[in-house]
Amino acid sequence: NTELTTILEISKVLTTSFDLEENLNAVMNILSKRLDMQRGCVFLMDPISNELRIVAAHGLTKEAIKRGKYRIGEGIVGSVMQNGSMMFVPNIGKEPRFLNKTGARPEKCGVSFLCMPIKLKDESMGVIGVDRIYTEEHGNVDDDIRVLDIVASLIAQFVKLWKMFVTTENECNLLRRQLKQIYSIPNVIGESKKFKAVLKTVEKIASTDTTVLLLGESGTGKELIAKTIHYQSHRMNGPFVAVNVAVLPENLIEAELFGVEKGAFTGATTQRKGRFEYAKGGTIFLDEIAELPMSLQAKLLRVLQEKTFERLGSSETIKADVRVIAATNKNLIEEVRKGNFREDLYYRLSIINIKLPPLRERGDDVLL
Ligand SMILES: Nc1ncnc2c1ncn2[C@@H]1O[C@H](COP(=O)(O)OP(=O)(O)OP(=O)(O)O)[C@@H](O)[C@H]1O
Ligand SMILES: [Mg+2]
Repeated sequence: NTELTTILEISKVLTTSFDLEENLNAVMNILSKRLDMQRGCVFLMDPISNELRIVAAHGLTKEAIKRGKYRIGEGIVGSVMQNGSMMFVPNIGKEPRFLNKTGARPEKCGVSFLCMPIKLKDESMGVIGVDRIYTEEHGNVDDDIRVLDIVASLIAQFVKLWKMFVTTENECNLLRRQLKQIYSIPNVIGESKKFKAVLKTVEKIASTDTTVLLLGESGTGKELIAKTIHYQSHRMNGPFVAVNVAVLPENLIEAELFGVEKGAFTGATTQRKGRFEYAKGGTIFLDEIAELPMSLQAKLLRVLQEKTFERLGSSETIKADVRVIAATNKNLIEEVRKGNFREDLYYRLSIINIKLPPLRERGDDVLL
C-alpha cells in the first residue's frame, strides 16, 4: 500500500533530528518518489517579514525558491493560509488566481495543484503545495488529498516541536553565556596576593581536563572556584553536577554516584542513572570528599584511572566522560595518616591541588 508506506517513511524522517530544512526536504523527496509529485513546496510563515516563504522544495531551482514568497491572502498559497482549508486546482493553466510566482512551471496546462494548510488546532503555520499530472489511468485526487492531509499534520507537529526546541536552545545558550560571565575570573573577588595566585592557577588549568582537589576552610570559596573552573573550560556547555558526599547516607552513595540497574537490590524497580552519568560532557564536583566511605574510594580510584564505571548490579561498562573536581575542608593528608582515606586516591585526586587561603589571611578581600 503506497499511501501507508509514504506516511510511515515521512513520520520516520520527521523524528530523526531537529534539522528543519533537511527533514522537510526529505519529506518532499519521499512525496516525489512515492506519489509521482512533479514539484512540491513547504511554505512556512516568516514571523519577521510576515510572508510565506519556501523552506523546503522538490523540483525547484534556488532562484525559483527565492521568488516563492506570498503574503497572506495572495494567490492560492496565500488563500489557503488565510482560510485554513485545502484547495484543489484541477488545471493551473485555467485558474487566474494561480500566480506561478516561482516561474517553475514551463507547461502549465494539464498540471493539477493541491494545496494543504499546515496547522495545529487553529494555529496556522504554513502551507504545503504539490503539483501532479493526473491521467485517466494514473493518480487519484482523493487518495492524494488524504495522504497530504496526514503529511501536513505530521509536519505541523514537527514544526511546533522544532520551534520549541529552538526557543529552548536559545534560552539555554543565553543562560550559559550569563553563567560563564558570572563565574569568570574578574568576578571572583580576590585582591590579596595569596588569592591572586589561586586565580592564576585556575586560569592555567581550566582548559585542561585534569582532576583538581580544592582544599580550604569553610566559606573560602571552594564551590565558587569549582564552578569557575567548569565555566571557563571547554566543558562549559556540559552540565556542572555538584554532589555533597557528606549528606548522602552511606548505603545510598554508590547508587547515587554510579546509578543502579533494575533489580540490583530489593526496591530497585527501575534503572536509574547516577551523577557520573548526568555529568556526561561536563564536570562533577565531589564536595566533602573526605567523607567518602572506604568501599567507594576504590571505585572512585578506578573511575579516575580507567575512566570507566558500572552501574550498581550491572556488568555493562560505561565511559566516564567527566572532569572531576573534589573538595574538602579537612586535612586530607592527616586523614590518610589516620587510615581514613586511601593514599593512592589522595595522590590521584591531587594532581592539581589548590589551597584556598583562609579569610583571615586575605586582608582586604571582602566577600559579599
Ligand atoms: N573570592 C570570592 N569572591 C566572591 N565571592 C566569594 C569568594 N569566595 C567565596 N565567595 C562566596 O562566599 C560563599 C561561600 O563560598 P563557597 O560556598 O564556595 O565556599 P565553600 O568553600 O564551598 O564553603 P563550605 O566548605 O562551607 O561549603 C558563596 O556565596 C561564594 O559565592
Ligand atoms: Mg562548599
